[in-house]
Amino acid sequence: MGFKVAVVGATGNVGREMLNILEERGFPVSEVVALASRRSQGTEVSFGDKTLKVKALEGYDFSDTDIAVMSAGGNVSKEWSPKIGKQGCVVIDNSSAFRYDPEVPLIVPEVNPDAIEGFSKKNIIANPNCSTAQLVVALKPLHEAATIKRIVVATYQSVSGAGKEGMDELFTQTRAVFVADPVEAKKFTKRIAFNVIPHIDVFMEDGSTKEEWKMVAETKKMLDPKIKLTATCVRVPVFIGHSEAVNVEFEKPITADEARDILREAPGCLVIDKREDGGYITPIESAGEDATYISRIREDSTLDNALNMWIVSDNLRKGAALNAVQIAELLIERGLIQPKKKAA
Ligand SMILES: NC(=O)c1ccc[n+]([C@@H]2O[C@H](COP(=O)([O-])OP(=O)(O)OC[C@H]3O[C@@H](n4cnc5c(N)ncnc54)[C@H](OP(=O)(O)O)[C@@H]3O)[C@@H](O)[C@H]2O)c1
Repeated sequence: MGFKVAVVGATGNVGREMLNILEERGFPVSEVVALASRRSQGTEVSFGDKTLKVKALEGYDFSDTDIAVMSAGGNVSKEWSPKIGKQGCVVIDNSSAFRYDPEVPLIVPEVNPDAIEGFSKKNIIANPNCSTAQLVVALKPLHEAATIKRIVVATYQSVSGAGKEGMDELFTQTRAVFVADPVEAKKFTKRIAFNVIPHIDVFMEDGSTKEEWKMVAETKKMLDPKIKLTATCVRVPVFIGHSEAVNVEFEKPITADEARDILREAPGCLVIDKREDGGYITPIESAGEDATYISRIREDSTLDNALNMWIVSDNLRKGAALNAVQIAELLIERGLIQPKKKAA
């Protein structure tokens, strides 16, 4: 017996990856429905060797759907997720709309699987921001071993984190540079081709950006409210794969060798850390992969009990679609969801 799954935002970067991952992992589906805006109604998306015709979200009846994975942005989610949840369909939401709601679990299955139990209050489970997901996968096992006090992180985030328009803008601007056309910035606040932009999401009153604030709030919610985190989030001209330069201060001593050994055994983590040319991961190699990669693990000689490391993952997979599918798998594993009886 399988589940009826609706992928909302199926024509987008995350939605397409969601369809790939549901198929790749053999998720037990009875039916998959692809939903997007009215603009995309009737267009086609692939699900394995099948082609699905996209339907409009507006007016769609979720009463016989078991799981809706939402990746259509925060505003769409704010309007639709509560209505879908009330129809008895469990929503797994990729947007930031419900992440900080105390009645909505924010889940990375390798990190805080037990928190999922509270999902039925709203029938909504939130997926974290892409940069937080990979960070907490790598840091959870180290936190268990040596208790993290403070994290300082600088991100190098790919343009796919800003949706398909972000990828198009990098491509179009790069081509414009080569043919000496004028370079136009529409999606990003400055030119992204051959440049980096230290600004993701809106500015907050204290001078940080919302993206940086999200990393703080989400790390506290999922890993430990006592952890102090400060972030600088930067958009870079990379299509897929977010990278993070991370400095972590621990309460207890931990060496680079110990951290490497712990991370080699940790779920979802892959250590690539040879001190030689190319003995580390770059975002291009992470694209299309499930792992959170950790490289350049070394002791920080300026601070007691502190390590530096380089963490890279495919933002569309562990940062979004893969994590959402793993949440759905966790619901099934724990017997928290049963397929609804479908009309004959
Ligand atoms: N990209 C990442 O790394 C990442 C990571 C974590 C979370 N997320 C979150 O995932 C969501 C989607 O991101 P994305 O990168 O996939 O964006 P995207 O490529 O721009 O795709 C957006 C999707 O939303 C659909 N959509 C837009 N307005 C809609 C409406 N009114 N009703 C129904 N569907 C609508 C679009 O459909 P049309 O094609 O019909 O316009 C499209 O399928 C965002 O909330 C984002 O914050 C993204």
